[in-house]
Amino acid sequence: MKSIIVGNWKNHPSSPEEASRILRGLKAQSRLYKKLSTFIAPPLPYFGLVKEKGRGVGALVAQDLFPVYKGSHTGNVSVDILKNFGTKLVILGHSEKRQLGETSIQVAEKIRVALDAGLIPLLCIGEEVHDTEGKYFEILAGELRASLGSMKKNEGEKLIVAYEPIWAIGKKAEDAMDSAELSQMVIFIKKTLGEIFDRKTAEKIPILYGGSVEPVNAFELKKSGVNGFLVGHASLQPKEFRLIAEALLKKR
Ligand code: PGA
Repeated sequence: MKSIIVGNWKNHPSSPEEASRILRGLKAQSRLYKKLSTFIAPPLPYFGLVKEKGRGVGALVAQDLFPVYKGSHTGNVSVDILKNFGTKLVILGHSEKRQLGETSIQVAEKIRVALDAGLIPLLCIGEEVHDTEGKYFEILAGELRASLGSMKKNEGEKLIVAYEPIWAIGKKAEDAMDSAELSQMVIFIKKTLGEIFDRKTAEKIPILYGGSVEPVNAFELKKSGVNGFLVGHASLQPKEFRLIAEALLKKR
């Protein structure tokens, strides 16, 4: 399985000119990105731009979806449009959506719509605080069980999970989770996925880490056993994104 790198642009950059500049930087390294499973999740208004100017860099990712296949829904973008644009993946349950009130039940509904349309759901889970009593284990298992409630037992292989501890998002590399701790979390997530699907399926579900992945900590974090990264702020800097991609390819 190739390592996965997803650039989550969130609500950035502010202009199409800046987006074009980022894409030029990425494009210059397209040979590198082909060695990985590379994905770009831009804001919707830049979809056309990424498709055109980012050709050969990676596949398009939606940052969310409106859970209907098509129809008249002012202000929303339904799955048929995303699909016809060539979107491969959809980020669901990101903590920045959950903080606005999105529940795991709603995430489950979106996962169902994504799967029915042939999109791969990239489910985000993460605890707000990494408390000393280990309550976060319960929180993560709860998020996984509820968010995956709409999936059938035999659909596990169509899923990607991103573990993004909320306390580590949007900070600096030194605030990210450390590699040893992360490997424990990967084991726990795989164990829980094994209970939801089955062990063999759980082994095939890629687990990504997100939360202040930067060039300086990427190689260390990779050693935890994750299958790749969901990269936020560093994905807007072509040089940083390239160094993270290189860290994913590095053997030692
Ligand atoms: P960050 O964001 O890399 O800026 O911490 C990651 C994310 O929220 O997906």
